[in-house]
Amino acid sequence: MEVVPLASAAETAVVAADIVEAVVRRKPAAVLGLATGSTPLPAYRELIRRRAAGTGPSYAAVTCFNLDEYVGLPAGHEQSYRATIARELTDGLGISPDQVNGPDPSPDGLPGAGERYEALIAQAGGIDVQFLGIGADGHLAFNEPGSSLASRTRIKTLTTQTRKDNARFFSSVDEVPNHVLTQGLGTILEARHLLLIASGEGKAAAVATAVEGPVSASCPASVLQLHPHVTVLLDQAAAARLDRLAYYSEVYAAKPAWQGL
Ligand code: GLP
Repeated sequence: MEVVPLASAAETAVVAADIVEAVVRRKPAAVLGLATGSTPLPAYRELIRRRAAGTGPSYAAVTCFNLDEYVGLPAGHEQSYRATIARELTDGLGISPDQVNGPDPSPDGLPGAGERYEALIAQAGGIDVQFLGIGADGHLAFNEPGSSLASRTRIKTLTTQTRKDNARFFSSVDEVPNHVLTQGLGTILEARHLLLIASGEGKAAAVATAVEGPVSASCPASVLQLHPHVTVLLDQAAAARLDRLAYYSEVYAAKPAWQGL
């Protein structure tokens, strides 16, 4: 795992945007994995800003896969992850809605939705770079604590804590769905490059457990320790509880220029 301690969330956004742009420049038909939540928003805004300024690459040939989706919201609901990703990122990058895939939460499609989504990802050749946030309880996508480390895309029930955490996007916690479709931890591990971003002190404990604790279903994000190419971008507050913080900073400062992230 490459842990990159940075001064601010704004800096994590710049480095994340650099990584994604480098992937798309190298491979114009890249497959991007997209996450929702507040954490990736500065990076998404930075990518959109650069494209508007004419310095970003073309996203015309890019395909996207969303990490997860609520089950039970009316189609087109503004808090559905499909609508959120379009609003916060893909529309601004000029990526057409038919190039953006998400798990299908329609009642009829639900039973086979996981398998169909896995097949779509495989057909696209797998995900080149996957954005990830982390829940305060260590969840990844919507893989709550206890999720199998080998899990595939499937329906999950949210914890009360996650529903409370996400209530800020709805008028009340009662409106937050109980069920979701989420890529599994095994699915996420198949992406070629994982880009975990965390900011704020509310994430410090989860980050420390995920990065330095044992690999355990009790902290789903700890499964990232098994992946050969993970970049963890942290602001100061999110990095504060890491035992090896000074070492990660030394490694990043001494990184050979040719190596890239
Ligand atoms: C949700 C999403 C996750 C995200 C997490 C953290 O539960 N399913 O993908 O990482 O929230 O969100 P935030 O970045 O808003 O803290």
